[in-house]
Amino acid sequence: MPNRVVVGAQWGDEGKAKVVDYLTEEADYVIRFQGGANAGHTVEVGDQKFVFHLLPSGLMHDGKSCVIGNGVVLDPAQLLHEIGDVLTKGIDATGRLWLSEAAQVVLPTHKLLDQLKEKAAGKDAIGTTGRGIGPAYYDKVARVGVRVGDLLEDDLLRARLEKAIAAHNEVITKIFGAPPVEVGPVHAEYRAYGEKLRPYVADCVAILAKALKEKKGLLFEGAQGTFLDVDHGTYPFVTSSNTVAGAACAGSGVGPTAIQQVIGVVKAYTTRVGNGPFPTEIEGGLGAELRRIGHEFGATTGRERRCGWFDAVVVRRAAQVNGLTHLAVTKLDVLDSFDSIEICTAYEIDGKRVDHFPSSLARLERVKAVYETLPGWKSDTTKITDAKDLPVNARKYLDRLAELVDVPVGMLSLGPKRHQTIRMGM
Ligand code: IMP
Repeated sequence: MPNRVVVGAQWGDEGKAKVVDYLTEEADYVIRFQGGANAGHTVEVGDQKFVFHLLPSGLMHDGKSCVIGNGVVLDPAQLLHEIGDVLTKGIDATGRLWLSEAAQVVLPTHKLLDQLKEKAAGKDAIGTTGRGIGPAYYDKVARVGVRVGDLLEDDLLRARLEKAIAAHNEVITKIFGAPPVEVGPVHAEYRAYGEKLRPYVADCVAILAKALKEKKGLLFEGAQGTFLDVDHGTYPFVTSSNTVAGAACAGSGVGPTAIQQVIGVVKAYTTRVGNGPFPTEIEGGLGAELRRIGHEFGATTGRERRCGWFDAVVVRRAAQVNGLTHLAVTKLDVLDSFDSIEICTAYEIDGKRVDHFPSSLARLERVKAVYETLPGWKSDTTKITDAKDLPVNARKYLDRLAELVDVPVGMLSLGPKRHQTIRMGM
């Protein structure tokens, strides 16, 4: 199998988990490399529905190994909860799940700070998931974070926690006027997590280097989406990590020469949760219809997702910053009942047509989407298993997306189940 990176090419929630789940059959290792429990991966297998926030969904496949790389910010309580949850369904993570000792740990004060900051920001709030992601990444970059390896060393852990929590308490008490957090109970709680996680903690760089040497297949599972990337997204309405394909290398310790395919997952339309620009958003009417048919509610926070038409300008930019080799188009079936479908092909800013995604928020806020209308196919696609049986208009729609983005469609998803997936020359 080629080593593959799967990333979201819009604002997250594109259906990456399903694509990853499908491609896991061909892989030996599934690796998470950025983000944390802000992600929500929903996979349906048979009649069972699994929602993971941290665990790579590859764990549900017998014999596959899963890695949580150094680029992740790991909430131990959440991870242990998910390990316990899959165990009740007969899936044992022991010997198959590996946690990088260099991954950052999310502390209770990170979550508290995330929530206090958002509340204080009022109308300027980013709309974060409140999972402490931003504050955990600040501490990483400020070099005061606690790493997974530290959880295993009692004295070291205490010292790291004292330093980090003292700094957090300054902000919690002086800026937000909230009561300080005591180090003692956090230390006891996190020390206990360390013991429970000990069997999984490893040198993941060495594990992946060995896997590459043995010609094992690596599948990197991105979280969030390209436009939530801290550099390439709609800053400041973004998450705190790099979500683009390049982050798979930095966030796991595997070099770029090891990667052969980069798959950009896109919904056949667009959604976004949280605040920030969204040029093709449809408010009310058809937007609500897309939300209803597509069940567009956040897997992590349950919030309503904002919905709109496919934006080729967005995905074209995603193709550039990720070096996409293929698109995986999901939820095409959600469009089955529409009479006609719009695709945004370009933008208009101050009366001028532009074909590229502007990086300035001010310009982005003035964008008017330019649409092209395609006829709908008005038939049920959910039972189709071969691309040649697609309705002509559905095929034309897909061909047009690929043409506008200049990346071939390699996979198509027509429903939440594993078998509702069509491989198209990938
Ligand atoms: P944070 O990652 O919790 O800091 O949130 C920052 C922004 O990213 C907010 O707009 C969130 O709604 C968004 N976000 C974070 N994780 C996801 C995800 O997995 N899917 C979609 N949006 C997300």
